[in-house]
Amino acid sequence: MADRGGRRYAGELVDVEHGRISREIFTSQAVYEDELERVFARSWLFVGHESQIPAPGDFVLGRMAEESVILNRDRGGRLHVFLNNCRHRGMRVCRYDHGNAAKFPCPYHGWVYSDEGALVAVPKLESGYHNELDRAQWGLIEARTASYHGYVFACWDPATPDFERYLGDLRFYFDDFCELPDGSHGDWQAFGGVLKWRMPCNWKFAAENFAGDYYHNPSHASVDAVILSPAGVKGRHTYDAVTRARELYKLNICVTPEGHTARGELFKDDYDYQPTYQEMAVVEDYFRQCHAMRRERLGEKARWFGHGGTVFPNVSYSNGVQSLGTWHPVGPHETETWRIFLAPKDAPAEVKQVLRHYVIRYQGPAGLTEQDDMENWGYAHEGARGTIARRYDLHYGMGLGHERKGWPAAWLGGQVYASEDVSEQNQRAFYARWAALMDTPPAERPARPAVRAAE
Ligand code: FES
Ligand SMILES: [Fe+2]
Repeated sequence: MADRGGRRYAGELVDVEHGRISREIFTSQAVYEDELERVFARSWLFVGHESQIPAPGDFVLGRMAEESVILNRDRGGRLHVFLNNCRHRGMRVCRYDHGNAAKFPCPYHGWVYSDEGALVAVPKLESGYHNELDRAQWGLIEARTASYHGYVFACWDPATPDFERYLGDLRFYFDDFCELPDGSHGDWQAFGGVLKWRMPCNWKFAAENFAGDYYHNPSHASVDAVILSPAGVKGRHTYDAVTRARELYKLNICVTPEGHTARGELFKDDYDYQPTYQEMAVVEDYFRQCHAMRRERLGEKARWFGHGGTVFPNVSYSNGVQSLGTWHPVGPHETETWRIFLAPKDAPAEVKQVLRHYVIRYQGPAGLTEQDDMENWGYAHEGARGTIARRYDLHYGMGLGHERKGWPAAWLGGQVYASEDVSEQNQRAFYARWAALMDTPPAERPARPAVRAAE
């Protein structure tokens, strides 16, 4: 088993200054165990969307790193995230993926928890425990919870900043993802179940790919050769029809020092709606109207055309197909992906149908694009384990020294670094944050990592 042998992460195993990263960070059991404590237990993690639990009493299971959690709405309407783990012997108190429940009775010995997490009943409290069990001390373990425009995140660490501060400069880009196509903050609705599947690779391969890997287009050559998007033009993106007709900057936005990242395009000037769904009049009308409303609402900022990114550490958002994929670690060598898809709640049925078919073709274990990605990550992980291969660092140096700040539009966010076309600055920002957390023992607070950027 590989071991980091007392070396630091920042500057040694993860040398973003020189664009080199050791393959050991993907395969070492010791690294992985540090990750659970130092990265996952300190970070805000995505657990579900409010539309999955619309009514009082509704719950859906979520996952935080390796552990099962319950996201529920209690009968008073308040959200909770509980560790799905009985305080007696640790049995799951909820074994159903979703449902409605006023109580969570543990199937093992029968301790019963309320929808607010309180231990409300214990068999043989008198005859077995002689009334000496203080039930108030033995409720379900509850995480901090934040609902951001309906997207629910949870965190175990009381010292981690509130979610909005944690988002930092990603806020503009994540807001853009949360906005409806018309630029308003209305309701999205998760549809279908949660797609869950396992991949034979370390979780970071997926997180960094979605963080900013515009370089891997050759992987999707076969998908780009067919008409995958509903736009009816060759390519896999709805926006292919738009971007081919307009001048734009393709941007990797790394948002430091929080380690979050965004990808997208910025049109060089205002642009008119580009016909995208010509064969479906209802859908075309919907998106044309949305486009006009978004421009009116956002003004110049409507020039931003978000593609997606990664909320550090392990949730990647995709605009266009409107989905969230969460990369849950299952040891260093395996990842369990949970992916949800959403559609504007009040959109016409035809629009929802088009979006549903699009994401089925695009993402998930059977989605053509996601299959390409998984093949890359699986082989890259296998390669990292090789006796010979692991002696050699990986190259993360693309664009190093060519980052720009506040370019090409000052309003793109606070501390923004951007480059035109492809770059690996987003991956470097992700790993800089990761390394800073990994070098900080659980009792200490992590320093803010420095990320190289030319002014
Ligand atoms: S493990 Fe839950 S009641 Fe014993
Ligand atoms: Fe991809």
